[in-house]
Amino acid sequence: MQTLTEVEMSSLTKLGYLEIEPDVRLDLVEEIQKLKKEKNAVILAHYYQESEIQDVADYIGDSLGLSQKAAQTDADIIVFAGVHFMAETAKMLNPNKKVLLPDLKAGCSLADSCPAPLFQKFKASFPDHVVVSYINCTAELKTLTDICCTSSNAEVIINSIPEDRQIIFAPDKNLGAYLKKKTGRDMVLWNGACMVHEIFSMEKIDSMRRKHPDAEFIAHPECEEKILAVADFIGSTTQMLKYTISSPKNAFIVATEAGILHQMQLASPQKTFIPAPPETNCACNECPHMKRNTLEKLYICMKYELPEIILDQQTILKGRKCIEAMLEISQKAGFGPG
Ligand code: 13P
Ligand code: SF4
Repeated sequence: MQTLTEVEMSSLTKLGYLEIEPDVRLDLVEEIQKLKKEKNAVILAHYYQESEIQDVADYIGDSLGLSQKAAQTDADIIVFAGVHFMAETAKMLNPNKKVLLPDLKAGCSLADSCPAPLFQKFKASFPDHVVVSYINCTAELKTLTDICCTSSNAEVIINSIPEDRQIIFAPDKNLGAYLKKKTGRDMVLWNGACMVHEIFSMEKIDSMRRKHPDAEFIAHPECEEKILAVADFIGSTTQMLKYTISSPKNAFIVATEAGILHQMQLASPQKTFIPAPPETNCACNECPHMKRNTLEKLYICMKYELPEIILDQQTILKGRKCIEAMLEISQKAGFGPG
């Protein structure tokens, strides 16, 4: 049985929205399932969430799948078990629905690496360029963007832009460099990165590969070029998951946030999944932002319908255009939420 910790009890009481007695023990999974039905709520979870959150979600996916699901849902409340930019995207696609995020401080180092006012100045130096932004960016940045992309559809999005148009790609320099190689387009890159995908150690990966010579090494395109250069497969979280299912290999060294291993292991229980090691001996291949959400916070947020994502009308109207453009191209290219 999952229970609220004493620390969480007392901090929630201080915040003034905890009514249950400290000695009340709740089955959080059961309570969350009840709240879902009562409130016609849907839980959308990213693969990097704690496994116990993934296990209660209605849909688990990558950034593209999650935005496609958010665009299609007929639920009254969207509970986003992910980070702030993902919940913002869901809100922009559903301005009249309530969108909740269990912890409002669940941010993203990549989104933070590209503040909109600085980007606006940068963009002014390239007035004729089309702006493509990775969906891992703030709502404000989306208002300065022509087309969004995710790691699943980035190549298709770049290729959809006429050859005679020049492109700015923001905020991820690693994904940008990878796309320059894949598409042959000479894009201007913003200098941002994800703290989790920049932490992998080449030396330790090499030694791990020597230790597991039959394992395939798979990596997310947010990783640095030197890591991608030695990968057997590169793809978004959903693409990596699908690859591990279809590959005849029985072992994989996985260079992305370690939360994805839960679904990989569930889909292929007979296979072995090894998280790629970070530089230091910390758990740096776990995203501290994603991991701010807990089952307890998910329950509290559903019960009290807080914290809620609030965006002003102008940001929604201006920012959603680049998401809609992405969804349209993705649909034509046959990408579905799976
Ligand atoms: P995808 O799940 O779209 O591959 O993105 C990974 C990521 O870093 C999300 O924050
Ligand atoms: Fe942002 Fe990286 Fe965490 Fe994804 S893994 S939410 S890109 S900090």
